[in-house]
Amino acid sequence: MLSLCYNSVPAILEALSFFRVENLEIHPTEFEHIIRAYISNEIVVAEECPQEGMQKKTRKSFFWGHDHDFGSFKLSGRMGTRHVWMLSRFFDHFGLDRTSLAGKHVLDVGCWTGGVSLVLQQLGAHVWAIDDTRRYIPLDFMIKSFGLQRLNARHISLYKIHEHFEPDHFDIIFCLGVIYHLSDPVVALRRLYNALKPGGLLCIESMSIANSDPLCEYEGPSRLGGNWLVPSPKALAQLLEDTGFEVLGVGNGLIPFQVTQEGDPMGPNRCFAMGKKIPGHMILWRGLSIEID
Ligand SMILES: C[S@@+](CC[C@H](N)C(=O)[O-])C[C@H]1O[C@@H](n2cnc3c(N)ncnc32)[C@H](O)[C@@H]1O
Repeated sequence: MLSLCYNSVPAILEALSFFRVENLEIHPTEFEHIIRAYISNEIVVAEECPQEGMQKKTRKSFFWGHDHDFGSFKLSGRMGTRHVWMLSRFFDHFGLDRTSLAGKHVLDVGCWTGGVSLVLQQLGAHVWAIDDTRRYIPLDFMIKSFGLQRLNARHISLYKIHEHFEPDHFDIIFCLGVIYHLSDPVVALRRLYNALKPGGLLCIESMSIANSDPLCEYEGPSRLGGNWLVPSPKALAQLLEDTGFEVLGVGNGLIPFQVTQEGDPMGPNRCFAMGKKIPGHMILWRGLSIEID
């Protein structure tokens, strides 16, 4: 029977182990105090609603993202340890070479408190971590507190990356747990396409539906979780192809076009995909919601 492989997990945990209080550049007591002030919402980071008027604001509270052991104290996050399992799936099952990350320009889209970004910077990559939710960026405070030189965190929406980064800039983009939160995955993928270097890699992780046809389930953001469209693995592959990617792999890591099952550390109904930018791919303009090349 096929089984998942976790060869890279020790290296990922080793990378995370740097983020312990003994490596802080500020006093550990002050660090913990400020982190706890974020968590208890004593430090309030106001959200910006892009347009006032008819757009509903999101919740104001801040929640920590990924579990973290700082040595003298630990945090449990809403995202648990998925940062570890996601990276391991790409390294151990999709052929992403973790030893070649040094010096690479990497974008982590929808970073939340940055579990993935922290690992990638420790593996030697130059990382931009972005999120469209402002309050999820105490990662900036982590960066300063640990004196990180290769990690930057900003409040930037995926839809606006072309306003902040040159085209063809990134070697690798991670878009993990984000695509089903978007109203327009086609435009989003094309933005990521344009931001990647020719031949650059896009790593996606998504909530998915266990269906062998290219379908998207409409959830609607009024349901808990704020999701729009949840793609089947085939739909995800098709989305990648239509926006200019050669699909290098889609599935749960073991079986192509299958979603994760109960017992997978990622939980059930998740799907991974890796695409490679095909330079010069023309996108069909008809039906696009904005002008985008
Ligand atoms: C489910 S969390 C995933 C966090 C992390 N990437 C992970 O996989 O554990 C989704 C994140 O995507 C962010 N997000 C949603 N829409 C976005 C957009 N248009 N641009 C950037 N980030 C976005 C959310 O604010 C949230 O932090």
